[in-house]
Amino acid sequence: MEDYGYHAPVLPDETVSLLVTGPGIYIDGTLGGGGHSLLILEYLKTHFEGERSLLVGIDQDSHALDAAEKKLSAYRERTTFFRGNFSTVGDVSRTVLGGEGKALPVMGILLDLGVSSYQIDTPERGFSYLRNGPLDMRMDPDGPVSAADIVNGYEERALARVFRRYGEEPLGGRIAKALVAARDREPITTTGELAAVVKGACPRKDLAIKTLSRVYQALRIEVNDELGVLERALEDGFASLSPGGRMAVISYHSLEDRIVKKFFASLAAEDWGPKGLAIREPLAPAKALLVTKKPVLASPEEIERNPRSRSARLRVAQKL
Ligand SMILES: C[S@@+](CC[C@H](N)C(=O)[O-])C[C@H]1O[C@@H](n2cnc3c(N)ncnc32)[C@H](O)[C@@H]1O
Repeated sequence: MEDYGYHAPVLPDETVSLLVTGPGIYIDGTLGGGGHSLLILEYLKTHFEGERSLLVGIDQDSHALDAAEKKLSAYRERTTFFRGNFSTVGDVSRTVLGGEGKALPVMGILLDLGVSSYQIDTPERGFSYLRNGPLDMRMDPDGPVSAADIVNGYEERALARVFRRYGEEPLGGRIAKALVAARDREPITTTGELAAVVKGACPRKDLAIKTLSRVYQALRIEVNDELGVLERALEDGFASLSPGGRMAVISYHSLEDRIVKKFFASLAAEDWGPKGLAIREPLAPAKALLVTKKPVLASPEEIERNPRSRSARLRVAQKL
């Protein structure tokens, strides 16, 4: 079977060596084509031969699950898959611990955020402004709201807010206005039509591509509630980890990375109460250790090989 266009996993060695510390359950919340999962399974086989481990893969896209199941078929006994949102990682881990993962510790959770290259490269999914397709952008093809619903249904002010907040787009208001004028003539239903209106609203044509990519990012985040599900997944995922287990998150833009950084920092902070309190121990000890003090970035060689890694930032925390 063809590889569905999935590309090499980002920060492969760094992710696996910082995530995997012993045998147990590993949850890949963003299975995609199964690239990272395969590396985790191989690493476990090499370093913890003969010890029981289980790889749990979650993705909301059934195409991804099909491709990953094929790729990981050599490890059938050590894998189990769930279709759904990674914000349900807590439920998934309880299900696994009550069944095939009984008595195993949850040692690692990985989130490699965003869309896969397969999703970007498939015009029918509507993620790309480079290829014409329906204005969709749902990572879960059965999700309730598409990009067309937002572009044609939101009020001008709400559209502008989405572009500013999730795209950090300074021309958000102007683009929202142009979209409302265009959709009053005829609904906007394709990525090509959206791109034409956005470009038309840009005063500097040489900067139009940057604006387009920010507008697309903003719509994608809104369609898939990406920041909301990330916050829930971090909380629930961390709660599911066994002591000593690690959580690794690869993000691709500053809005995601800020959420991860803040969450990990809050776990690693000790609470010493109000200033001046003469106490020997913190009121609340730290819950996690920062394995990466600064985000791990891709090397120039990896960026050359795999341009998708250019904006990747990996952060890892360990539950105490
Ligand atoms: C960047 S790709 C992961 C690639 C994967 N690490 C690999 O090596 O092949 C992200 C995947 O996560 C999935 N995804 C994104 N957000 C999700 C969410 N909230 N819940 C479940 N899956 C999600 C997407 O459908 C996509 O397949």
